[in-house]
Amino acid sequence: MKLLDQTRLPGEEVYLEIADYRELAKSIKQMNVRGAPAIGVAGGYGVALGTLKIEAASSKELLRKLQVVIKTLKNARPTARNLPRAVERMERVAHEAVTAEKNVDEIKETLVEEAKKIHTEEAEATYNISEFGADLILSGATVLTHCNTGPLATTGYGTALGVIMRAHEQGKEITVLVDETRPLLQGARLTTWEVQKAGIPMTLITDSMAGYFMGRGEVDCVIVGADRIAANGDTANKIGTYTLAVLAKENKVPFYVAAPTTTIDPSLASGEEIPIEERSHDEVTGFRGVRTAPGNCEAANPAFDVTPHRYITAIITERGIIQRPFQRGIARVLG
Ligand code: MRU
Repeated sequence: MKLLDQTRLPGEEVYLEIADYRELAKSIKQMNVRGAPAIGVAGGYGVALGTLKIEAASSKELLRKLQVVIKTLKNARPTARNLPRAVERMERVAHEAVTAEKNVDEIKETLVEEAKKIHTEEAEATYNISEFGADLILSGATVLTHCNTGPLATTGYGTALGVIMRAHEQGKEITVLVDETRPLLQGARLTTWEVQKAGIPMTLITDSMAGYFMGRGEVDCVIVGADRIAANGDTANKIGTYTLAVLAKENKVPFYVAAPTTTIDPSLASGEEIPIEERSHDEVTGFRGVRTAPGNCEAANPAFDVTPHRYITAIITERGIIQRPFQRGIARVLG
């Protein structure tokens, strides 16, 4: 399996050859591959990869040995719903294949096919999100976005960035304000790279400049992705999203969330229940091995925050745009 190493972009385009599910789990943790839909797709392929390597005399033995693969991949990163969801789906399909009395080789083949299906479905979903969301963007708009939500993060068209790119393709004149996204700079390194390739005019800003531009009336809407959305619409996304949402409300700027339904977790009543990943403090005290803070400096590094649903104008999914009240709208799109 080949992965474009996102940690080395935009300087170097290096592909990693992943031969083992443990290597893949490590790549997810290290964020060589990142973004909620992309790690879901990677997780699906990871289970397939793990299964192919298992030596088993019976389908039951295969299933038993598969448990360690499932556990390792599912827990690689805790916040995005897409990863455990894809891994759980692979597990369910493995169980069904055993119940259907498929042999070991057939189960392996079934799981490879299922991983491909997850990939195709996630990619298609992002295209539909982009189509629906583009209707919300008017020609002449300046759109502010945070983190990276384009093809790199989704293996498809993109969520928030997909919406922006689709609106641009439709001929709308759009300018993008790209938040740099401290501490790992997904905005400055990855979103700029993708927006530049798409030929959309953009300006890179530091995260702390967002209020300045909103206060001057220079932002027409904010659009972000999501890692997990609770049943009431509370949304976990890259750290700094909550700050943007509060600023948007204060400045009467619409605040949109774009995400596939695989990111929604209806089992969680509110955002308080969403697990937030705490990452290495070295990511805050330095960058790419160069220390910027003095030695022994205490730091914190929650990778995501939760935006309460009251700050969100609408949630764009592949099944349509969910308007407020979100509880009802979310239940409806999930059928
Ligand atoms: O830590 P990351 O870079 O994986 O965080 C990614 C985000 O927060 C994205 O906004 C989110 O996954 C949506 S990607 C379409």
